[in-house]
Amino acid sequence: MIRVGILGATGYTALELIKILLRHPDVEITTLTSRQEGNPHVAAIHPQLTGRLDLHLEESPPETVAARCDCVFSCLPHAASASLIMKMLESDVRVIDFSADYRLRDAETYEQWYGSKHPDPNRLGKVVYGLPELFRDQIPGAQLVANPGCYTSTSILALAPFLKKGIIETDDIIVDAKGGVSGAGRSPKLTTLYPECNESITAYSVGRHRHTPEIDQILKLATDCDVQVLFTPHLVPMDRGILCTIYARPIGQRGEDDWLDIARDFYEQSPFVRVIGHLPATKDVAGSNYFDMTVRVSRGRAIILACTDNLIKGASGVAVQNFNLMHGFDETTALL
Ligand SMILES: NC(=O)c1ccc[n+]([C@@H]2O[C@H](COP(=O)([O-])OP(=O)(O)OC[C@H]3O[C@@H](n4cnc5c(N)ncnc54)[C@H](OP(=O)(O)O)[C@@H]3O)[C@@H](O)[C@H]2O)c1
Repeated sequence: MIRVGILGATGYTALELIKILLRHPDVEITTLTSRQEGNPHVAAIHPQLTGRLDLHLEESPPETVAARCDCVFSCLPHAASASLIMKMLESDVRVIDFSADYRLRDAETYEQWYGSKHPDPNRLGKVVYGLPELFRDQIPGAQLVANPGCYTSTSILALAPFLKKGIIETDDIIVDAKGGVSGAGRSPKLTTLYPECNESITAYSVGRHRHTPEIDQILKLATDCDVQVLFTPHLVPMDRGILCTIYARPIGQRGEDDWLDIARDFYEQSPFVRVIGHLPATKDVAGSNYFDMTVRVSRGRAIILACTDNLIKGASGVAVQNFNLMHGFDETTALL
């Protein structure tokens, strides 16, 4: 049994993670932390877990959590996450970080986009990016894995096959993204209150969303292409789900079937990628670890459409994919 701890266990991603791990035959959840809820039974915070997990939350220092666990999932916000993780990594515990803290490759870019100094700058650039479809070989040996962002993984997986093949221009890529409200987490914010966001769609963080440099950096790493995507997210009044509509200029002439064949070849070994003929919809991936994508060609553009569940393939599902690869289990364990 692998002993697992979860930091920030009161949050949305943590709840989904617990539900997946309860299906895992080789996992024992030993520790759940909260900074401000005290010591309640987990079912008092997440009623869905009533009768499924008998554990109390606690506020334990990172060293105590590390001593009690073989692997820790950090479901904390950025900055808070790295400052605890760096202490845990002094032991040999393995860590999967949900936050953005270890995703970017350099401290300068982090400071520019996150507005504060990185707590652990020397580790940046050396941490494995946990997107198994692109970096599968690097994950098994890692002590620390940076779990991807939800908009980022959807955008990166949609673009990677075509950038790698050299069939889209690198300087004119537009990612028009829509996401459900759970993407903002459980902590109350004015913009995600029901009367503010219900029956309304609005763009946000236009030209300055923090997932922008992550998409650029990871696409460079995966495909060796220098890209600067124009990324615009929109808040949609639904609980969960991400749909990215991506516009790119094709190099050369090919029909839609050729585009789909290229994507299918690229993801041949990836059990959670579904290259489909019909248009993807968030409902079709809700609650699952699937990433659905297709391509249309019109008016001199390739239109790549892709969707995921932000809480599963965008967070907790891919984290368990990473966990499985790190510990030698089948990548799909507990996820199908
Ligand atoms: N939501 C998504 O779709 C999604 C997708 C991909 C990645 N992520 C990333 O995953 C992480 C968790 O996201 P989430 O949506 O689950 O967030 P969330 O629902 O807001 O939960 C985060 C938890 O972290 C704890 N926390 C908050 N601030 C803290 C601090 N300063 N120090 C220590 N603990 C703190 C809180 O627990 P207590 O108040 O009980 O301490 C909170 O329940 C974030 O880094 C997020 O960016 C989220």
